[in-house]
Amino acid sequence: MYPDRPLSEAFERISSRRSVKAMDLQEPGPDTEALNSILDSALRVPDHGKLGPWRLVVFQHEDRADFGHLLAARWQVLNPDANEAQIRFEQNRFMRAPTVIAVISERQAGHKIPEWEQILSAGAVCQNLLVAASLAGFAAQWLTEWYTYDEYIQSLFKIGDHEDIAGFVYLGSANKKPDERARPDNQTRIQRWQQPG
Ligand SMILES: Cc1cc2nc3c(=O)[nH]c(=O)nc-3n(C[C@H](O)[C@H](O)[C@H](O)COP(=O)(O)O)c2cc1C
Repeated sequence: MYPDRPLSEAFERISSRRSVKAMDLQEPGPDTEALNSILDSALRVPDHGKLGPWRLVVFQHEDRADFGHLLAARWQVLNPDANEAQIRFEQNRFMRAPTVIAVISERQAGHKIPEWEQILSAGAVCQNLLVAASLAGFAAQWLTEWYTYDEYIQSLFKIGDHEDIAGFVYLGSANKKPDERARPDNQTRIQRWQQPG
């Protein structure tokens, strides 16, 4: 039998998983071993055609401040009237969490596997990161914010014609479990198949 048994604790964790706002994330983040396990689990996604249509960029330690300088500089170009507080916020954006992971959807164009399916696989990586982080005892949030869609920032990630940034997953610890969030009513989203005629 596969799987051999239900894992009720993991099921409960996933059933109650909540994102934690990046600004509420704090140390400790995952150490190297925990991070590698989270990344390995996250990349274990459905991937039609075995294309591996994604790549990840990890920010830790001083990488976050280094990238923050680039964000702040770009913000000032886009917003010449930006005030000190806004510039400082951009500089510290990646400092909100101990680890930030950029997930990039990297498609093969003209492949028999439609690009849409390749994009979905990258989305699955992001979700798997959230779930793996949660099962490893960490909190996380998947964000896009302005820099995901900014041409200059994309160029820093060498985003090509058939690539997009799926988002940035912020990882760390949280003081407390966040309150429940209003959710769509499942009854309105799930229905039994109705055979036509
Ligand atoms: C692709 C994507 C991008 C997102 N970008 C943002 C964002 O830029 N800012 C934000 O506040 N929430 C963003 N969210 C929402 C949060 O990640 C998350 O859904 C929300 O905080 C509640 O999450 P939960 O239902 O997992 O608790 C995004 C979600 C997705 C799927």
